[in-house]
Amino acid sequence: MSDTPYIIAIDGPAASGKGTLARALAENLNFAHMDTGALYRAVGYEVLQSGGSPADEGDALAACASLAKKVANPETLSNPDLRTDESGNAASQVAAIQPVRDALLQMQRDFAQSPAEPYRGAVLDGRDIGTVVCPQAQIKLYVTANMEIRAERRMKELQSKGIPVTYEAVLEDMRARDARDTGRKAAPLKPAEDAIIIDTSDLSQDEALAKALEYAKKAFADI
Ligand code: CDP
Repeated sequence: MSDTPYIIAIDGPAASGKGTLARALAENLNFAHMDTGALYRAVGYEVLQSGGSPADEGDALAACASLAKKVANPETLSNPDLRTDESGNAASQVAAIQPVRDALLQMQRDFAQSPAEPYRGAVLDGRDIGTVVCPQAQIKLYVTANMEIRAERRMKELQSKGIPVTYEAVLEDMRARDARDTGRKAAPLKPAEDAIIIDTSDLSQDEALAKALEYAKKAFADI
């Protein structure tokens, strides 16, 4: 691999398909993958577990410090409790606090800059990867889809995990989270100026992957 690591930055709103696309791309290209939302979810979850308030800076920073100690353990970020709507909502509250973002930044940059052997590069997905975490990424994708389709997907995902939810509740949570993520001062969700927009409203997962692979193969000549 050249000295400059290959980086693919994927951003987009909740349930847009960015996580699925990021995982599939990483697997196809033999790149490492980081779901940065899981970091914010872990912080939000930790605050709730300790009885704190996700909007409180002190509580959220204490949770960041506790996460830093256990993030190396793979089970920390694969905990199924992180996937609930409660954790998602808590995540988007802690994520609006700039010092929380600062505390999680280096972890994400280190992952992108030094992918572990044998990976040839890294794919990171989140809200601010192309704009803040890795503005140097050779490929920036902004994955989106209309809100109703996203709510439907999230509802099915949660139900398939045995979490009882209604469409209305998921739609409402998603609306609130989108508004918070795009409206916040700290690293608001928006496409980087040089991002390629992929609208997955009418695309299957395979179609979205094929499009992204086409861009990747153009950008990384030796892949
Ligand atoms: O999976 P989903 O798209 O629902 O959300 P996620 O990617 O797991 O992220 C959960 C929350 O973390 C988001 O609503 C954002 O507020 C926050 N987040 C962020 O601010 N920056 C990131 N790079 C990733 C997530």
